[in-house]
Amino acid sequence: MWIVPACQYPFRLVLFLFLAIVCQNLMCQTTTDPVEDDDFGDFTFDEDPMMATGPIDPAFQPNASVPTPSLLSPAVIGGNPVKPHKYPFMVGLQMREGNYHFCGDSLITPMHVLTAAHCVVHEENYRKLSSPANLIHVGVGMHNRLPNSRNHYFDVKRILVHHKYRGQSNGFLYDIALLTLGTSVRRRPSLKAGIIRLPAGPANDPPPQTAVRGIGWGLTKNITKNNPESDTPLLLMGADFRVLTNRDCTRRALGSPIAASQICIDSSNRAVCSGDSGGPLFRQLPSGQYELVGLASYIMGQCQQRESANVFTRVSHYKQWIRTALAADSRQG
Ligand SMILES: *[C@@H]1O[C@H](CO)[C@@H](O)[C@H](O)[C@H]1NC(C)=O
Ligand SMILES: *[C@@H]1O[C@H](CO)[C@@H](O)[C@H](O)[C@H]1NC(C)=O
Repeated sequence: MWIVPACQYPFRLVLFLFLAIVCQNLMCQTTTDPVEDDDFGDFTFDEDPMMATGPIDPAFQPNASVPTPSLLSPAVIGGNPVKPHKYPFMVGLQMREGNYHFCGDSLITPMHVLTAAHCVVHEENYRKLSSPANLIHVGVGMHNRLPNSRNHYFDVKRILVHHKYRGQSNGFLYDIALLTLGTSVRRRPSLKAGIIRLPAGPANDPPPQTAVRGIGWGLTKNITKNNPESDTPLLLMGADFRVLTNRDCTRRALGSPIAASQICIDSSNRAVCSGDSGGPLFRQLPSGQYELVGLASYIMGQCQQRESANVFTRVSHYKQWIRTALAADSRQG
């Protein structure tokens, strides 16, 4: 089902995932984006009782040793199924038809999820959506991505894409989009749903070498032209990764410079892969809350590869965009 783009980039730059379902023009809606710049103000969201918190995990402490290949159990490539509902902010983007999973995303308010622009935008015409709101839904509180109750699924009311996103032609910069759900997840209290804290600002991002966690329902094997169904897990998988400096990442990218608005992880031992796109890279704060660090954007090579990297949208860089997008959305009602 995965379509791998013909890779013209020097080092086989492959998108995490292109939808196998191509948008019919008539069904596409144009993206609206009144949102301007990426200057980051220092705003904080109000403490929300739905903010996900967990017991302190030693793997995330600043002092934790960087996970080595065998230390952490081998998803995501090289990961394991995570404890069910441990990360209640994790939601899945699926086509309504067939509940076909194509991207991950994170709840940042009870009504909004953050994902990557490339999950929803047409590859050639950036004004169009590849997966318009009426064709997709968001699965909330899932461990298995094919839950047995419809109760997990939420309609998407609106999609707001960063207006500067130009895909591969611009190095996948501005790879961010905000989706508004048709109903608040609070309306279904039986679901195990939570929200994730947005980062404070770029200066507070996890420093190079520290451990961050990535989760998703993406491929557990390197991307190939024909990954068998068994490479796509049903259960939510996760693994820990080491943050790279952007400089190191640029060196690994062989010529496509990594911008300040991106953050990379070392994909030598474990990696995110197709289907993990848009999903969260996160850490845990001393309070036990989880903080969103990145949105899976693109990979180099086949996902997992020695001396290679996976690139994420650096969320701290887009706080002002997120704030403005949320405000624009609430004005539209
Ligand atoms: C890690 O913790 C130990 C003991 O608390 C301390 O001595 C050491 O300096 C810390 N290392 C780093 C890199 O923070
Ligand atoms: C993925 O592909 C790379 C490059 O071909 C290879 O070195 C690596 O071993 C592969 N990893 C897995 C898990 O198959």
